[in-house]
Amino acid sequence: TPRVFSGIQPSGGLTLGNYLGAIKRFVDMQDSGIQTLYCMVDLHAITVWQDPAALTRNTRELAAGYLAAGIDPARSILFNQSQVPEHAQLGWIFNCVARMGWMGRMTQWKDKAGKNAENASLGLFGYPALMAADILVYHATHVPVGEDQKQHIELTRDIAAKFNHDYGVDFFPMTEPVIEGAATRVMSLRDGSRKMSKSDPSDMSRINMTDDADAIAKKIRKAKTDPEPLPETVEGLKDRPEARNLVNIYAALSDQSVEAVIAAHAGAQFGTFKPALVDLAVDKLAPISSEMARLMDDPAEIDRLLGKGAAQAREIATPILQKTYDIVGMVRS
Ligand code: TYM
Repeated sequence: TPRVFSGIQPSGGLTLGNYLGAIKRFVDMQDSGIQTLYCMVDLHAITVWQDPAALTRNTRELAAGYLAAGIDPARSILFNQSQVPEHAQLGWIFNCVARMGWMGRMTQWKDKAGKNAENASLGLFGYPALMAADILVYHATHVPVGEDQKQHIELTRDIAAKFNHDYGVDFFPMTEPVIEGAATRVMSLRDGSRKMSKSDPSDMSRINMTDDADAIAKKIRKAKTDPEPLPETVEGLKDRPEARNLVNIYAALSDQSVEAVIAAHAGAQFGTFKPALVDLAVDKLAPISSEMARLMDDPAEIDRLLGKGAAQAREIATPILQKTYDIVGMVRS
């Protein structure tokens, strides 16, 4: 049976990249009727230092973001990772299955640890093994993510295959990444060669899901572009990363293909395309940010929902972890 799992780190504000690459697509999958589990991966967040009060606030704000964007706790299981201890328990077993060499080849590890690997946390190095546990503790078959997580999902498959092979079982499924749509890699508004990211020092490089209409408009108006009008065909976006990015954002926000957006705006100058994008973005994003603010006024209600979600998640995870322990040979009395 198909089952969807995905997660987002509560390590700072949500960006338009998180929304278009992940949350918006999570909502589509929920609406398709498949069983869906969505997580705030707080254990992953602390692989780099998080101020405790900020972690608490960011976890609740991320929950508010999921809810405001359309995740419905009656149809999806919504929870934070640390309230489901089975993630960390299976993560330990996967630490013993995964190889150091596999981890060392992860581009995200190389980017984040950089030349200072000696000083990175052990958790940051082992991050993908915990991520594999997040997915496989539910036997999830499909994982919607942005392009940057593809390598981690491939590693999840390697861990599942090695576990199955080492123990002579056919227990963990081969999970499929689901990387679809026009915005699998939303780029910085200041530099079309860099990913839009919450850690970029320039706030003008990204749209935050908490930005108000004025901020959204200003950032899009000031977004870097080239001097050419929009091309007549999609091929004409080649080697124009900033133009391509704005068209992709437009397509994803309006649920259209890139082809359809180009067909409708062929030959348009940015002086007309940008205001159209501002209108679209404000129309789609402002209601989400105001709903987030409203939900954040009642943190106790958010915590209650997350507690309920964790209990539902554990009902699925517990038997799978127990079966794993049996396969490994742990005594359970
Ligand atoms: P994180 O928290 O960095 O990002 C959450 C999701 O947002 C996507 N994303 C983007 N998509 C398009 N354009 C962008 N600029 C952009 N920036 C972020 C990410 O691809 C991701 O889907 N390791 C994961 C969290 C995680 C997880 C998991 C995901 C932990 N366990 C299990 C799936 C399954 C991460 O750091 O995502």
